[in-house]
Amino acid sequence: MLNLTRKRELRAELAAIRRDGRSIALVPTMGNLHAGHIELVNQARARADFIVCTIFVNPLQFGAGEDLDAYPRTLAEDIAKLEAASCDCLFAPAVEEIYDTDLAVATRIHVPDLSDEYCGRSRPGHFDGVATIVSKLFNLVRPDLAVFGLKDYQQFLIIQKLVTDLEFDIELLGVEIQREASGLAMSSRNRYLSATQRVQAALIQQTLQSMRKQLEAGARDFRAIETAAKDRLSAAGFDVDYLSISAATTLRRAEPGERQLVILTAARLGPTRLLDNIRFALHD
Ligand code: PAF
Repeated sequence: MLNLTRKRELRAELAAIRRDGRSIALVPTMGNLHAGHIELVNQARARADFIVCTIFVNPLQFGAGEDLDAYPRTLAEDIAKLEAASCDCLFAPAVEEIYDTDLAVATRIHVPDLSDEYCGRSRPGHFDGVATIVSKLFNLVRPDLAVFGLKDYQQFLIIQKLVTDLEFDIELLGVEIQREASGLAMSSRNRYLSATQRVQAALIQQTLQSMRKQLEAGARDFRAIETAAKDRLSAAGFDVDYLSISAATTLRRAEPGERQLVILTAARLGPTRLLDNIRFALHD
């Protein structure tokens, strides 16, 4: 596997790949790779000739007081996992290689509306940071395909809109959430959980599934279902940031009659912020 840190080298390697007529897939990550990330690489591998995985803990998407400094950095282990997954190229630049101006005055990309609610409300500026780094990576790598996990479903919709609105000629692939045996969605932040919290954290997925069952059984008072679910999580010690039954494509709060749904949540267990969602259609 090529292991690159400089934009110049990356551009030169990829120009040669393009000259050979080979397709390129991009898997952007912040490292501390787990089975969910490796599934992104596997899905990319099945669809493209040359796979570029990026590892970059992007300061622009962390707010003041968030876990930028504490974010787990495990480059040597990540390299071993990417090699085992037959990734072709790792691009793991330093912050100065990516942002060569004062961060406070760096250009930002803003995707309105979709960025405003849920994680956008509790993490102001977060999605501008994501949209900006993803745009920069798209311009650096110029991939045919870019692969993202659906655990960050709001992020995925924002990137979809960005690709359409800014005319990036890139196919996007969203890969289903990988889960631990308990149902807990895999996340780099799960390593902040104690053994007891890890068991407790499975209640998030159980709660989402029980909401889905109620909806599939014909319950239509969406707000009452949300309130009962939030109460259940709060009673178990979670600090629920949001838990919403929403329209799967717009993320607007769903009203009865809406058929394509996502239930999405962010909840803290101790200091750890956990995300999860399920998407499904109602047929009646
Ligand atoms: O989902 C992530 O890990 C990050 O938000 C991403 C897309 C790599 C951008 O930094």
